[in-house]
Amino acid sequence: MKNILITGGAGFIGTNFAYYLTKNKPQYTLTIIDSCNYAGDEQNLEDIRDKITFVKGDITNKELINDLVAKNDAVVHFAAESHNDNSLNDPWPFVQSNILGTYTILEAVRKHGKRLHHISTDEVFGDLELDDPERFNENTPYNPSSPYSSTKASSDLLVRAWVRSFNVKATISNCSNNYGPYQHIEKFIPRQITNILSGIKPKLYGSGEQVRDWIHVDDHNAAVALILEKGKLGETYLIGADGEKNNKEVIETILRLMGKSTSDYEHVKDRPGHDMRYAIDSTKLRSELGWQPQYTKFADGLKQTIEWYKTNQAWWQPQKDAVEAKYQAQGQ
Ligand code: NAD
Ligand code: DAU
Repeated sequence: MKNILITGGAGFIGTNFAYYLTKNKPQYTLTIIDSCNYAGDEQNLEDIRDKITFVKGDITNKELINDLVAKNDAVVHFAAESHNDNSLNDPWPFVQSNILGTYTILEAVRKHGKRLHHISTDEVFGDLELDDPERFNENTPYNPSSPYSSTKASSDLLVRAWVRSFNVKATISNCSNNYGPYQHIEKFIPRQITNILSGIKPKLYGSGEQVRDWIHVDDHNAAVALILEKGKLGETYLIGADGEKNNKEVIETILRLMGKSTSDYEHVKDRPGHDMRYAIDSTKLRSELGWQPQYTKFADGLKQTIEWYKTNQAWWQPQKDAVEAKYQAQGQ
């Protein structure tokens, strides 16, 4: 395996993955395809421009995907519409990119006999009660709640069917909530950091009791690289770093790290159908492949992320007013 095609490589996790591979696995030749929707930007890859080939294009474009897959040994498939709130306003782009896009990739890897690693989310399992002693594992039944998570669940099921019916050489990973540099400011953590930097109060949906299982994006990407190289074909791996925190705790930690009063935030309208809790049991990944997270202290990873948004204001400022206006219009 030498030539790797990364879909969605100009978005948050895909950009970090491209940087991770060029730094830690320089033996690979990388091609990145991204349509550069509102969350993806070719400029994100500026510092590694001479080490990658960038193609601006859509994963639903059958001819383009066929051509790129034929030229590469493996595909790491990150491209997707990724934000739950957007999926509640307009599910169609989610059906297109997440379901039809994954179908297009699957048909190309089937035709050319190439390796695929499909990136998915823990949200396909639905949610847990706050006091549930169980966490999600590889055998948890699918039960997605939102248009976003149901399209991701659909894409996972397509991959599983293509493995079973056509012997496609694929693996799947389902990861919990990522944080780190290059995350779009519509998402919870960067929205609050950039709110504080803009003199706006952080916004907590509903009661803020909802729990997410936070993982630094570099820990996610190290696991993806490991699964790509050593994962058993046809298998699913759950990725999580034991990072459960409720949203209220996260907002208070951000405020504290940014030198503000921990009560200086406001409650806004809750998300319809808001999932209560996600929690990952990553025993399989740790015991079979030897993965361990490097960011074991959430506050340290968060400090690094806050610094990144402080020093890269030109990256997010042009979008801030429009993102906040959209949220304000829906009472959030
Ligand atoms: P993102 O929205 O920041 O990036 C997605 C990228 O995909 C963007 O650059 C976008 O332009 C591109 N894209 C979307 N539709 C496309 C299409 N039709 N053709 C080509 N490119 C297209 O999202 P992210 O947070 O980086 O998520 C990446 C992947 O990881 C997604 O599959 C998501 O479901 C999954 N995931 C995300 C998280 C998280 O916490 N962010 C956790 C688990 C899994
Ligand atoms: O679990 C993995 C998933 O994590 C990924 O599959 C998704 O792509 C990613 O967006 C993320 O989904 P969430 O819906 O959990 O993330 P989001 O950042 O939108 O919200 C995190 C929590 O914070 C959620 O409970 C809603 C809440 N929230 C969000 C925003 C934007 C707030 O309280 N205030 C906010 O302003």
